[in-house]
Amino acid sequence: MLLLAHDLRSPGTEELARTVFEVLVPTERERILRKRLAADRTRSLIGRWLARRAAASIVGTPWTTLRTGQHPGGQPYVVGRPQLSLSIAHSGRYALAAVALGARVGVDTEQVARVARLPDDAFLGPGERAALYAVPRDAERRAAMWVLKEAAAKLTGQGLRAGLRNIGFECRGAHFPLAARTPYAAAEFRAFRLPGGYVAAVGLSAGKPPREPVFVTPVRETALKTGWTDRLHE
Ligand SMILES: CC(C)(COP(=O)(O)OP(=O)(O)OC[C@H]1O[C@@H](n2cnc3c(N)ncnc32)[C@H](O)[C@@H]1OP(=O)(O)O)[C@@H](O)C(=O)NCCC(=O)NCCS
Repeated sequence: MLLLAHDLRSPGTEELARTVFEVLVPTERERILRKRLAADRTRSLIGRWLARRAAASIVGTPWTTLRTGQHPGGQPYVVGRPQLSLSIAHSGRYALAAVALGARVGVDTEQVARVARLPDDAFLGPGERAALYAVPRDAERRAAMWVLKEAAAKLTGQGLRAGLRNIGFECRGAHFPLAARTPYAAAEFRAFRLPGGYVAAVGLSAGKPPREPVFVTPVRETALKTGWTDRLHE
């Protein structure tokens, strides 16, 4: 599998988002335009770019030749590539996309401080609360539970309909990256830190998930000559 991340504060992000918008098909554009805030549109566009980049790298084709779509429940997919599983996440400073070949994948990211503002009963089961509070209160680990649960809900495609409290997680070990499992989904999960007070999680139904995402930037993308810089400078 390939897990790509982008720091939305990187120079060139807005230009890249505009370029991605240009190559979207009308249905995808409409979905983006439904987002009220410009920052959310940018996050979503960069998520799609990462998704196409990851899928392109796995199947060995330029990213501009691939399309993404969304199932009625919201789960994204790569059009015409049923062997690929795709998951997208964006929050605050980061966008992430995970693509796996022949396995199901789910990814999520969130700012630790935002999860800290949520009450326990919004997402934690009684056993999880007991496990968390058996050790000194650890906001990062608590936020990791949130992203693990969302990653699992995306892996199955159920999304929030799953009810995050119903997705019970058990983490192995005390240090990041945390290895975790849930009876809710047959998959291996990892939670890791991202710079600036964020956590992210990825789940994979076959094989070991990566320990951390690969960061891609518009600058590095230029070097890869995948095509978007040509469109940008037309
Ligand atoms: C999937 C979901 C948990 C993501 O929530 P979020 O934290 O707001 O947003 P994230 O940035 O983490 O993820 C957003 C991405 O998840 C993906 N996604 C949306 N629904 C999904 C689903 N059912 N399964 C897997 N992935 C999904 C999309 O690619 C989306 O990116 P996009 O908006 O750019 O297209 C949530 O939007 C959801 O459950 N949606 C389904 C609708 C639903 O169940 N609503 C009931 C509300 S109680």
